[in-house]
Formats: sequence, C-alpha cells, structure tokens
Amino acid sequence: MVDLQDQTEKIREEINAAIHEVIDSTQFIGGEKVHQFCETLGDYLGVHHVIPCNSGTDALQIAMMALGIGPGDEVITPDFTYFATAEVVGLLGATPVFVDVDKDHFTILPEDIERAITSKTKAIVPVHLFGQAANMEAIMKIADAHSVYIIEDCAQSMGCTITEGEFVGKSTGNLGDIGCFSFFPSKNLGAFGDGGAITTNNPELAQACRQIANHGQGKRYYHDRLGVNSRLDAIQAAILQVKLNYLDNYIVERQRAASKYDEVLAPYEWIMTPKRLPYCNHSFHQYVVRMDYELRKEVITMLRSYNVAHNIYYPLPLQEQKAMAIFPKRNCPNTTEICQEVLALPMHTELTDDQIEYIASIFKKVAP
Ligand SMILES: Cc1ncc(COP(=O)(O)O)c(C=O)c1O
Repeated sequence: MVDLQDQTEKIREEINAAIHEVIDSTQFIGGEKVHQFCETLGDYLGVHHVIPCNSGTDALQIAMMALGIGPGDEVITPDFTYFATAEVVGLLGATPVFVDVDKDHFTILPEDIERAITSKTKAIVPVHLFGQAANMEAIMKIADAHSVYIIEDCAQSMGCTITEGEFVGKSTGNLGDIGCFSFFPSKNLGAFGDGGAITTNNPELAQACRQIANHGQGKRYYHDRLGVNSRLDAIQAAILQVKLNYLDNYIVERQRAASKYDEVLAPYEWIMTPKRLPYCNHSFHQYVVRMDYELRKEVITMLRSYNVAHNIYYPLPLQEQKAMAIFPKRNCPNTTEICQEVLALPMHTELTDDQIEYIASIFKKVAP
C-alpha cells in the first residue's frame, strides 16, 4: 500500500545526519530536537501549541483527559473510522455515540450529529477521514449551540487545508478545541516508528495536555493529576523535522497519483472513484473507491492473484465491533452500506503512472 523505501532513499543523507546529531547529543528524550519540531509544525499548521506524544491514539486519549471526559459523558464519533477514535472514549469510561457519515466523502454527517446530541454530550470527534476535512463550519455551529468541545481526529489529514468559506486557509487541527495527529510511518507525515501530536490554541488546554502526557507532573516529581507516559522521542522528532520540509511535495505527489487513478478508472462505470469536497484540498492519505459487494469480492481475488496490494478500510461499522457491544447502538445506514463497498488501492508519494495503469488493467479482467 505504501513505498517508504523509495521515499526514504531520496532523503537518506539528510535523515542520517539528523539521526546522528541526536546520537551525538545523547539527548534521546525531549530536548532541542523535539522542541524545534513542535515549533516548526506549529508554524506549518498555524497553531499556537503543539504537544508531542507517542501516537495518534495517545493524542486522542490525552486530549479527552484534558477536557475531563469520563464516566457519564457521551462523545460523538463517526461510525465509520479507525477503531482508536472511539476506543479511547470507552477506555476513559465515557460512552461513544456513533453517528453516520456521508457516503460520497466518508465524513461525519452534521445532521446526524444534531440528532445524536443529548444533555450528556461532552465532545464531538470529527475525523478528517482519508485526507478530507469534515464539514467543520456546520459542526462548529452545532458545538457552539450546545456548548460541547470539538476534538479533531487529524490522524489521516496532515496537509489538508480549508479552501473556501469561513475558515479558508486554515489547516485541519486548527479549527476545533484540540487536534490530534499521528506520525505512524505510513501517514502523510510519517516517522520511523510511532509518534503523535496534539494541537490547540488554548494555553490552559495545552498546559493540561503537557502535564497529562508527562505523568501529570506540574513540577518535577510533583504530580498534580493522574497522567500517562507518552513521548515523541528525539530521533523521531529529528526525522519528522526533515520530512516536514518535503510534506507539501508529498501531498502534491499523492494528489497527482489520485488524479491518475481517477483518469484510468473513469471508463469503469461500476467503480465509484472518490469525490472531492468543494471546501478543502484532499491530502489523499488513502485512495478509496466503492463498488458493489459481489464485484468487490471478484476484484479482491483478481488483485491478490496479481500481487497488487489493497485493503478494506473499514470492514465493519465501529458499533459492530465486538469490543463496542457494550455501548448503545444507533442506526447508521450509510456506514453499513459503505463497509460492504469500500476498497483502498495503493497510495503513496512514489506511485508511478505505469503502476496505476497496471492496477487499472487488472480491473478490466473483472468487468469492462
Ligand atoms: C482516524 C485515525 N485515528 C487515530 C489513529 C491512531 O493513530 P496511531 O496509530 O498513531 O495511534 C489512526 C491510525 O491509523 C487513524 O487512522
């Protein structure tokens, strides 16, 4: 699905030098490299505070802890997203409330958020899935009207910015109360291991997140609250600092690959290629097509036989996951439908036109 080898090869010397600087400094935890990366990322995203942590999952958990989310609270999440988004809600003793998504763009439906809000709702977690922003204008109006927090799940949306309307020019992660990013290696900005970051413009929330990520320490060895141990290590920060310089090019390469897919898949009427939202630039973390369930089975068999990578993001609505059985169910028909139809094709910065044409030629063997 990704080709990190070729991407890394192109910047190997810079990366090696950055890693060696950390080794020479022996400052493996915290220190200048981590600080510098957070500052640069803050400038890139236009946010005041960037709090480093160990993963996107930790970012979500720490954000929710900072907002005081716990037993008795409800948190609205899409039914169609990666498990971590709702997992942390349950881990904190709160109740995830599953909301349906738009079939064409895979983002949470504001009108279904309205229906799901109760007096117990503490936060909404819009997920900018596959690289496109949820409808933040509508979601922020709902959140304001009901005084609930917004935690943006930006694990898949690094490089996605708003291109029209009230928030034009703003990055995802700079719209709600808190943003949560993942630097998992295959992400748009990927480390060489786990990593994550929390973004906010609210100094009190930033301070709370910093404390929580560091065992709740206010002053060294004085713990004001219960926290976790979640760090972005200095080697990862040094690597991310180098890769951040290339991020805009990486997004352009992903968009180029997506346009090529659109072009070569256009003749196949039975394949629905991803639709673009008018108000943001799609940063194409994933290129996800839809098709009839039976045809999808045939396509998968064919792709397997030609050794072409593919994946189903996501095979089940979150509320159908065994682990979520303890939480109330909601009717999310779009999610049920698209789980049967989605198919993710290889998507990365190094995909060539020839590779994309080859993948499309395999579809021809299933149906013209
Ligand atoms: C939407 C979403 N949220 C959260 C996460 C969790 O990020 P991490 O794997 O860094 O913990 C991911 C990771 O794939 C994700 O896709």
